[in-house]
Amino acid sequence: MKQKDLLLKKPENPPRHVAIIMDGNGRWALKRGLPRVAGHKAGVDSLVSCVEACSAWGIEVLTVYAFSTENWGRPRDEVTFLMHLLEEAFDRYIDRLHANGVMVRVIGRRTGLPESTTRHIEHAERLTAGNTGLRLLIAFNYGGRAELVDGVKALCARVARGELSPEAIDEECLSAHLTTAGFPDPDLLIRTGGEFRISNFLLWQLAYTELYITDVFWPDFRAQQLHQALMEFQKRQRRFGKV
Ligand code: FPP
Repeated sequence: MKQKDLLLKKPENPPRHVAIIMDGNGRWALKRGLPRVAGHKAGVDSLVSCVEACSAWGIEVLTVYAFSTENWGRPRDEVTFLMHLLEEAFDRYIDRLHANGVMVRVIGRRTGLPESTTRHIEHAERLTAGNTGLRLLIAFNYGGRAELVDGVKALCARVARGELSPEAIDEECLSAHLTTAGFPDPDLLIRTGGEFRISNFLLWQLAYTELYITDVFWPDFRAQQLHQALMEFQKRQRRFGKV
């Protein structure tokens, strides 16, 4: 964490789980006359800054949307760049995350990823599995609908094997078959880059999540901007459908 960020006061009653749609990397780069991928690269620094802040402020879970199932439709070079970027980020930061007690988990489909990317993911997860600090979930090759399809398939398979009766399926049961099983639902969703969309992120889990949308592009979103979002969250009155 940078010296000036250490001066940021730990927010009172911070959310247990913060989810972030890290958008605006391409626009950040274009504004500077740089290739789009330069925005993704700078975005890793924002992620590091936010992870360190969440750790310092005692947030339990941080989930970030790094690569969606729809992102395969981007130019091939950009897709390849993003795969390498995840590998490079792990090479560079995994020991530091581990030393800080962060548990890393990658959620999303493993099928279709390059073998070296899968290897990096498995190493990061294995290394940090026993850590008890911040739990960092990186959504990579993730789509909310795909996740629900996979969860429903797993439930159907259990029904077919006679392990589960259809009547026993309730919300808790479906939650337990999603990639976020065992983690609380997000309290706060932050979207950078100013668009008002969920973009197939955590469709089930966001049912009662507070939304915070900022025009700031992701590479400019650091601990300080996160702090501002948490201050705004504190003002919200959550009713969960009640009065
Ligand atoms: C959306 O911005 C961002 C992404 C698709 C990639 C997010 C990745 C990072 C922030 C880097 C961290 C990632 C890893 C792999 C550790 P955009 O390209 O859609 O921006 P735009 O809306 O301005 O075009």
